[in-house]
Amino acid sequence: SAERALRPRELNEYIGQHRVREQLEIFITAAKNRGEALDHVLLFGPPGLGKTTLAHIVAHEMGVQLRQTSGPVLERAGDLAALLTNLEKNDVLFIDEIHRLSPVVEEILYPALEDFQIDILIGEGPAARSVKIDLQPFTLVGATTRAGMLTNPLRDRFGIVSRLEFYNTEDLTHIVTRSAHLLNASTTPDGAAEIARRARGTPRIANRLLRRVRDYAEVKANGNIDATVAGAALSMLEVDPQGLDLMDRKLLEAIVHKFDGGPVGVDSLAAAIGEERDTIEDVIEPFLIQQGYLQRTPRGRTATQTTWRHLGLTPPSGASGAT
Ligand code: ADE
Repeated sequence: SAERALRPRELNEYIGQHRVREQLEIFITAAKNRGEALDHVLLFGPPGLGKTTLAHIVAHEMGVQLRQTSGPVLERAGDLAALLTNLEKNDVLFIDEIHRLSPVVEEILYPALEDFQIDILIGEGPAARSVKIDLQPFTLVGATTRAGMLTNPLRDRFGIVSRLEFYNTEDLTHIVTRSAHLLNASTTPDGAAEIARRARGTPRIANRLLRRVRDYAEVKANGNIDATVAGAALSMLEVDPQGLDLMDRKLLEAIVHKFDGGPVGVDSLAAAIGEERDTIEDVIEPFLIQQGYLQRTPRGRTATQTTWRHLGLTPPSGASGAT
């Protein structure tokens, strides 16, 4: 994919997430020195922040193979058993969207994680018997947008739990600059920073915007991405100066105009803007909450004073947030 070409392969090329990176570096080094598999790793956080990239980096740094699957793809116990029995010593098994594993598949996973063993059923009917199979030691890297959606027994089996956070503008500027080099695109520092500032704290979005801004710079200017060209291209893409996109604004406008600023339940919002509830919760809301445009209360979502002002309106006296 276009994204893969920009992915760092080694931990020391990985920009941002300093705390997570520092921890992984220590745990990987220790496991390698002991010749053991790294403990199971749970990566959680909003989409696009580098969970898949980190899984690949873990395998690369451990010097092992990575096998990749996802929760919804593993329909039957046998699907997972086939993967597990083919792993080699200390390999990484990456399960994306691990919160969507079916209960029967999850059952198989517990003894695999704990004792590197699986119980499989051979035969049918009265002749069926359960057979234990030993596995090679391996590392499960699980990724999810929301750790709260894992069952407790599954979450408890991860020795390393890392929460990925939105990137600050400085780190994202480094990423945009690095990606521009790899793409042979020419940027000024201000041009890279403008893309970074408007990328919702998310490398995947920054890299996508970089490609579109490059197109714009080549067709509408001389190919160089400076702050002016980046600003014009991002306006054309309907990414506003604060980095909110169309869906962000649609959600905020619905809360303000259709629900008087809230509180409004997520299902009502989903119906109002024609978007899936999961997309609202996993993709759209986390950044808006982090930036102070949205609050989640027990009674629903509310717009903040920042939101009213962002939409060019005067906040009502009841709107939450600093004055
Ligand atoms: N490309 C996408 N995410 C990245 C990261 N965290 N570091 C370096 N390059 C990246």
